[in-house]
Amino acid sequence: MSAREKQIVLSNVTQIFRGAAFRQIGGELIAVDDVSFSLTAEPPQIVSLIGESGSGKSTIARIILGLQRPTSGSVTYGGKDIYRLAGDEFAFFRRDVQPVFQDPYGIFNPFYRVDRIFWTAIKKFKLAKSDVHGRSMIEESLAAVDLRPEDVLGRYPHQLSGGQRQRLMLARVHMLRPAFIIADEPVSMLDAAVRVLFLNILIDFKQTYGMTTLFITHDLSTAYYLGGDAMVISQGRIIERGTVDDVMLRPAHPYTQLLLSSLPVPDPADRWKERLAVTEQTVQSVSPSRDRCLFAERCRFVLDRCWKSRPEPVLVRQGQTASCFLYGPRSDHAQPAESPSQNARTTR
Ligand SMILES: Nc1ncnc2c1ncn2[C@@H]1O[C@H](COP(=O)(O)OP(=O)(O)OP(=O)(O)O)[C@@H](O)[C@H]1O
Ligand code: SF4
Ligand SMILES: [Mg+2]
Repeated sequence: MSAREKQIVLSNVTQIFRGAAFRQIGGELIAVDDVSFSLTAEPPQIVSLIGESGSGKSTIARIILGLQRPTSGSVTYGGKDIYRLAGDEFAFFRRDVQPVFQDPYGIFNPFYRVDRIFWTAIKKFKLAKSDVHGRSMIEESLAAVDLRPEDVLGRYPHQLSGGQRQRLMLARVHMLRPAFIIADEPVSMLDAAVRVLFLNILIDFKQTYGMTTLFITHDLSTAYYLGGDAMVISQGRIIERGTVDDVMLRPAHPYTQLLLSSLPVPDPADRWKERLAVTEQTVQSVSPSRDRCLFAERCRFVLDRCWKSRPEPVLVRQGQTASCFLYGPRSDHAQPAESPSQNARTTR
């Protein structure tokens, strides 16, 4: 498959969870609601999926990785449904789309030295001609993530810091050279210095090896640091997308504007959690219907139609869309007040 053909395409992906736990909201929870987007290997991209806790980010990650078949919609890789891949095609997909999770501690077997994650990959994918060759591949990959072999090899997972474990996962990614990295909150448990190191490695992987990253985060500042493109997700719906600069400096959707209106703060991630803790449950308990804008309860621009139908994405400016009735030819609203760009960071 050529680099140009390597695309992950999500089309109208919906994930519904059903069960007694959701009785209060009609017996089901729509965790991902008609989500469509694509990731390309050529040109390589960094795309941040930004959203509050419970907005459906990890569910999307699991669906893309082939770990959870969506209730409806499709995910294709190179034009083929990933849930129908078998044999060599499935093995190739597994290698070409690599996950990096929040804390890889669970991925390491506590009874084995960490070296095993490399040797398992080397054997599974037949990467090395000999043990000596394998060892040199491991050392090269460790160097690429700024780890020294003597500091990590031969150790057990608990003997390493969270930052070292997380960089070991990146070293494994380096060794496998996938086209896509699906990184679900990979830096949220790291301290600031290691976080920046980790983000720089992702940028380097894109620039040096052409790897595309889907970077999942609740933290606006890390998405801003990474640059590239951004998608804002709320209650399972992607409500705005564009370049990180457009979305963060010129947010179009009132929800994105609200999120950004408090920046800068010492820790935007904390403010984000605080602000949003009250929203989801309130919205769902006020009106269970989803055939509408789910932000209507809190939107100062709300009009009748916002309660009656779901807003579709509308082009706001070149490369930026917002799912909001404020935009588009049929708009019957006033334009939103000045975007909070004066509050957003202006340097990266
Ligand atoms: N297996 C499951 N069964 C039932 N509900 C689930 C399941 N997995 C996720 N959910 C629910 O789906 C919604 C979205 O969950 P998800 O983990 O995708 O959110 P998230 O954006 O990753 O949140 P966080 O930032 O906290 O990681 C949440 O309300 C969650 O409780
Ligand atoms: S669609 Fe209506 S309620 Fe929703 S964000 Fe836009 S103006 Fe506000
Ligand atoms: Mg999650």
